[in-house]
Amino acid sequence: MSRPVLFVTRELPEKAQQRLENLTEEVEVRQHRSEEGLGRQQLLAEVRGAWGIICVLDDTVDAELVQAAGPQLRVVSTVSVGYDHVDTQALKTQGVLLGHTPGVLTDATADTTVLLALMAARRAKEALERAANGGSSGFSLTRGLGTQFGEQTLGIVGLGRIGSAVVSRLLPFGFTRVLYAAPRPQDKRAHALNAQHVSLETLLESSDLVCICCPLNPQTTGLFGSQAFARMRRSAILVNSARGAVVDHDALLDALDRRLIAHAALDVTVPEPLPAGHPLLTHPHCTVLPHIGSATEQTRAAMANLAIDNALDGIFARPLKAKVDL
Ligand code: DGY
Repeated sequence: MSRPVLFVTRELPEKAQQRLENLTEEVEVRQHRSEEGLGRQQLLAEVRGAWGIICVLDDTVDAELVQAAGPQLRVVSTVSVGYDHVDTQALKTQGVLLGHTPGVLTDATADTTVLLALMAARRAKEALERAANGGSSGFSLTRGLGTQFGEQTLGIVGLGRIGSAVVSRLLPFGFTRVLYAAPRPQDKRAHALNAQHVSLETLLESSDLVCICCPLNPQTTGLFGSQAFARMRRSAILVNSARGAVVDHDALLDALDRRLIAHAALDVTVPEPLPAGHPLLTHPHCTVLPHIGSATEQTRAAMANLAIDNALDGIFARPLKAKVDL
């Protein structure tokens, strides 16, 4: 008897991969079993006939892909909380559901944000380079001194789950003020964290550490451009663990070169990865990680499992565990 086809664009973390392989009675799993994605044309060919597609944020999901899959497609399930790679209108028009993975990656992503903040404050990039070069790079009373978080102001752009978890982790470092910028006040979360809703301008002018934790959408694309950097404190640290396109990279480079801000620490860039030798990679005051926000064994397993649940629920017309409202 023919079973509905579930197409998976990547190899999944081990336990979720095993679960996928045991689904044979319910669905026919077709999978591109690799860490790397398929080329666009191959992806369009491979999704043909799928009822469900499990994808990642590198896979562009648009009208062309939906059409290539065919009219039986019921659900796209992305192994990510962010869904800026998905044309939600195209799915809505075709009556295709969208699942994602909120909640399960909050802690890991907030941890990575704190990691970047500390790396920037303690000038870890320069220190790692000194250590790797050996020679006269031992203890020094004066060389490479960083900044101690203490009685400072923390600015969070986007006080959602991840932004709130970042504040909770950073408060014990002694920040005395927490400001947040968001399209709407987040009263409940803000109250619990003693955070104050302010304009982006005020946040930029007042914050010692600015963490970008907002989704990418037309309102946040390029939010950090030359005007934003001109408002920031010269001693400020900028951390981006959200999406690369929230920050205009040319404007950032210019701001770092002109010392308009002290340091930028990025888990996300455009493109990903940045090409070898890119000036942000080599800049002494810019730390770049290769989008490892959610990259722990536990979190990736939870994300992949939730994505499988969402895909199966969509295929078999059950309510999705984590559905995006289209
Ligand atoms: C997401 O899920 O959107 C994250 O960027 C992956 O770490």
